[in-house]
Amino acid sequence: MTSKLTAVPVGSFLVNEVISSSEIKFSLIVPTYNESKNLAKLVDILTRLLNDYHGDRYELIIVDDDSPDLTWQVGLELMPNYPHLKIMRRQGEKGLSTAVIRGWQTSQGEVLGVIDGDLQHPPETLIKMLDAIAAGADLTVASRHVEGGGVSDWGFIRRVLSRGAQMLGLLILPNVIGRVSDPMSGYFMVRRSAIANHAMNPLGYKILIEVLGRGDIGTVTEVGYVFQERQEGESKVTWRQYVDYILHLLRLRSRGRISKIRQKFQIPVQRFLSYGLVGLSGVFVDMSIFYLLGKLGWGLTSSKIISSEVAVLNNFLWNDLWTFRDISSRQIGWKKLVKRFLKFNIICLIGIGLNLIILNFLYNYFKIDKNLANLIAIAIVTIWNFWFNLKLSWRVTQTK
Ligand code: GDD
Ligand code: MN
Repeated sequence: MTSKLTAVPVGSFLVNEVISSSEIKFSLIVPTYNESKNLAKLVDILTRLLNDYHGDRYELIIVDDDSPDLTWQVGLELMPNYPHLKIMRRQGEKGLSTAVIRGWQTSQGEVLGVIDGDLQHPPETLIKMLDAIAAGADLTVASRHVEGGGVSDWGFIRRVLSRGAQMLGLLILPNVIGRVSDPMSGYFMVRRSAIANHAMNPLGYKILIEVLGRGDIGTVTEVGYVFQERQEGESKVTWRQYVDYILHLLRLRSRGRISKIRQKFQIPVQRFLSYGLVGLSGVFVDMSIFYLLGKLGWGLTSSKIISSEVAVLNNFLWNDLWTFRDISSRQIGWKKLVKRFLKFNIICLIGIGLNLIILNFLYNYFKIDKNLANLIAIAIVTIWNFWFNLKLSWRVTQTK
């Protein structure tokens, strides 16, 4: 393949500009995971449509993440009958968004597209999208929320979740999410020139957000489509995709305005969120142990001391394994682990003292409502705890 090579920042993906004018006009990526039952039908329909539209000048690239149901093998067996079909079997890397970018990286088309591999995206819509691009759009999105669009028979909860995610996106990243009516869409086309050489760093499911957020996208158009029900196989969406979505929004947001503040004050947003989640788990641990010991007839103070210490241990372990994993993995050995744990304990203990002081101060001096005062105290102490633990407990010492 003749394409220009550019240095890629670690952890980022770069789609190259194709410099030798290739014959290929359009590269369509189909990310698949366990779609063996859908593949043959999909490839057949897409091939007919694209043959009519582009003749020989397109490619159809399946990017399969080494599916246990051997989707990639089904693809390989189809290849002799479909000369435009290419199969990429990815091992050692996973995820919908990165699969799409990997596909684009190996592609040669002037226009890059993506469609789901389960026939939930009606293939006929491709034609309208190709027309929109031909008419000059940089990006064309198949949308459920414009004229001619919709969902088949989604329940109330699913609609609310989908719209809720969109609203959250509008709050966190208005300039990006607000540009399209269906930012969750995984069915779109973009001009290579609009994203070439823009480092991408997607997370989770929503590749369109990455394209909108990092690309240099001028005109955007939308085409309505009805999201079909799945006939074969099952959806891969779990709660994980919702978490990834939020983290992805935050990551994109921090690239702009926040990144300046962040550089100044070094606010590690993602780490703080993890720390907060771990803290929440500690509350549950504390409350359960406290409840159990109470049932066993222990006194109030002794129950509380034990339950808080178990919670501290719980929080420490999760933080060590997750929140600060990158740091703790560089401080190997039992001694260092114990040291981190002791420091964590001391900081938490001081945190309790601080909590008491702030609570008393707000309540007695400012006459703030008791529970509100407690909440404020908890918020301040959480930040305090986080900061000192980051700077002290999980400090990276550059000793050999
Ligand atoms: N390579 C690869 N790796 N493909 C994957 C992975 C992965 O980790 N996870 C999912 N896929 C593929 C699936 O096989 C399918 O072809 C496509 O990505 C979409 O996955 P589904 O699990 O079927 O997603 P969905 O139908 O619930 O969700 C879709 O929601 C949007 C509408 O809100 C998204 O995928 C969007 O594309 C869609 O527009
Ligand atoms: Mn699907």
